[in-house]
Amino acid sequence: MTLTVDQTPFGFDPLRPGFRDDPYSVYRRQRETDPVHHSPLGMWTLTRHADCEAALRDQKLGHGEGMNGRIDHLSFLTLNPPDHTRLRGLVSRAFTPKVIRELRPRIQQRVSELLDPLRGAGEFDLIDAFAYPLPVMVISELIGVPVEDQRRFSGWSEEMARGIDPDFLQTPEQLVRRDQAKLEFDNYFRELIAARRGHPADDLLTDLLTGLIAAEQDGDKLDEQELLDILALLLVAGHETTVNLIGNGALALLRNPSQLAFLREHPDQAPAATDELLRYDPPVQFVSRIALADTEVAGHHVAAGEIVSMVLGAANRDPEAFPDPDRLDLTRQSGRLVSFGQGIHFCLGAPLAGMEGQLALAGLAALPDLTLVDDRPPYRDHFILRGVSTLRVRA
Ligand code: HEM
Repeated sequence: MTLTVDQTPFGFDPLRPGFRDDPYSVYRRQRETDPVHHSPLGMWTLTRHADCEAALRDQKLGHGEGMNGRIDHLSFLTLNPPDHTRLRGLVSRAFTPKVIRELRPRIQQRVSELLDPLRGAGEFDLIDAFAYPLPVMVISELIGVPVEDQRRFSGWSEEMARGIDPDFLQTPEQLVRRDQAKLEFDNYFRELIAARRGHPADDLLTDLLTGLIAAEQDGDKLDEQELLDILALLLVAGHETTVNLIGNGALALLRNPSQLAFLREHPDQAPAATDELLRYDPPVQFVSRIALADTEVAGHHVAAGEIVSMVLGAANRDPEAFPDPDRLDLTRQSGRLVSFGQGIHFCLGAPLAGMEGQLALAGLAALPDLTLVDDRPPYRDHFILRGVSTLRVRA
């Protein structure tokens, strides 16, 4: 089915050729002309920062039937309280700031291992050589997936990440591959869980299992499928998003050589620089909710059952929140980013992703003479996630 621009639920057409090259001018028009768009298909699209932030915090907007059949195995990402609270609590107990701080030297080591051979290597694809492998190494090590299995892990991630897009935007073959990937993923982890039950290790999987057993003892009902879905959520939420942070961030820096030079000269400014790159071209462009009851959103009555989409990529370029929003300025005091969401579903991996982004981008900036070969790289054909699929550079 081909929809015209006016018929699309968003008020603009994310599938139109050229949209991915510059979605931000399309968002700007939308924000200026129709910031609270209501489509004839019964869907709301918000593009102002304040509206997106408020909607993300509105507990009358949640998850439920009618959310267009997205992959239904993403654990608490797609659940409401109290189930959301229970499962998120279990993971946050294992995924502490201390665990993440302790990962820092290992991430730095992986960054160096991947980047050192690229110095003076000539032309290469930065996604393939760096942005894609780094986050899968980090998330596998964190969970406790053996090195020899990381390739398979990364293949499942690719299929399952596409699965977070609405079903109607995917081909039947893609849907079959997504479901197949989740089945293989579950089978693989059933074996790994069985192995860990007998032999605990120093990894997140063991901690989650310990939490699971404790929860069972407290009379809380938590089955193995719930644990498998949590693991899938960590992989899907944590891999492609971070790939896109590194890929989109590198592209923005290479297109703005003075900013790249600034980061090269001031690696200590990597935290603020990473926030600014997350604002400028965020890996997650949309999040959606369904109205659980009649409610008011941005001054409009929204009926129970209607879908509300928040365009994070548009909110981050709202001049009301970020002056001169189209300018990349690594010294910007970034303000209230919505790149990691807001409210009860705020990204659980934000501290990890931030640290990974900082080490990766500072590492890239330190490569002397890094330049773009192709200034208009192709994008992955994802809808919710935004990221280049290849980035040809020279070092
Ligand atoms: C730059 C990288 C990342 C970005 C831009 C990002 C973005 C987001 C966003 C926007 C949400 C909220 C979704 C919603 O409200 O519907 C979210 C949730 C989540 N993210 Fe991330 N994420 C990143 C990396 C990670 C990493 C590395 C992990 C874990 C290893 C992770 C784990 C999660 C989890 C578990 C949730 C669900 C939270 C909940 O529903 O309570 N993310 N992320």
